[in-house]
Amino acid sequence: MKEQISRFLPAECPWGDTLHWFREVASTNTLAKEMAGQGAPHGTVLIAGSQTAGRGRMGRSFSSAEGKGIYLSVILRPECLAQQLMHLTCAVAVSVCDAVEKSCGVRPSIKWINDLVLGGKKLGGILTELSIDKGAIQYAVVGLGLNCTQKAEDFPEEIRDIALSLQSYIGKNVDIPKLTGAIIHELWEMDKHLLSKDFMAAYKKDCITLGQEISIVRANEISHGKAVGLTADGGLVVQFSNGKEETVQSGEVSIRGMYGYV
Ligand code: BTN
Repeated sequence: MKEQISRFLPAECPWGDTLHWFREVASTNTLAKEMAGQGAPHGTVLIAGSQTAGRGRMGRSFSSAEGKGIYLSVILRPECLAQQLMHLTCAVAVSVCDAVEKSCGVRPSIKWINDLVLGGKKLGGILTELSIDKGAIQYAVVGLGLNCTQKAEDFPEEIRDIALSLQSYIGKNVDIPKLTGAIIHELWEMDKHLLSKDFMAAYKKDCITLGQEISIVRANEISHGKAVGLTADGGLVVQFSNGKEETVQSGEVSIRGMYGYV
């Protein structure tokens, strides 16, 4: 599988040399954090055929059926402060949208901050985890889960209404190694100018949350408002129903459309 994926990487991309493929792991993000702690270099890529404990934001699980999705984590070691890289999840989301568009001819949208969406349903998600020492990043693990060839019955019943795969949306076969190669390629390109906030202009175009009425769940409290803007760091500017405007950061909140998943 490693060779099949590497075929789709440009020869000059060194990340093919630090690519690890596993048939099954608990979570590629968890394993990547272990490997990073043991000194795995920048650009180490972990891919799994399936995960038994795939994780999403806010402690949620990520359904990872064998051979039907892309379950991938990359270890990055940018030399900067965490504060300079608040937009990392946004940059990854845009890069994955670019790869899907180039490889499959359809561009997903983004539901703030980390969900990839097609046809109003969840196509995948990104889980970014940072190790920070005195404000500086020791390493970042960027995890991506992307539904590729699942049929509705392959998803657990509780997410069947809100999840979908790329293949079922485009109605054509999805070549998983080719798409995986395209994603690694885009992430490698992204890494070359990681500190630039230029990603936010593309993110703004892809983000379907902007302009929507949303519910915001914070510390078990639900409030309602309208998403009116994005900051350069990827914060969501919300106008609450009491008229107050506030920027919410991804760490603290979960958002839903007022009338459904998106
Ligand atoms: C989310 O939906 O909130 C993010 C989902 C991220 C899932 C990916 S799959 C590969 C990597 N390993 C994990 O355990 N999670 C991420």
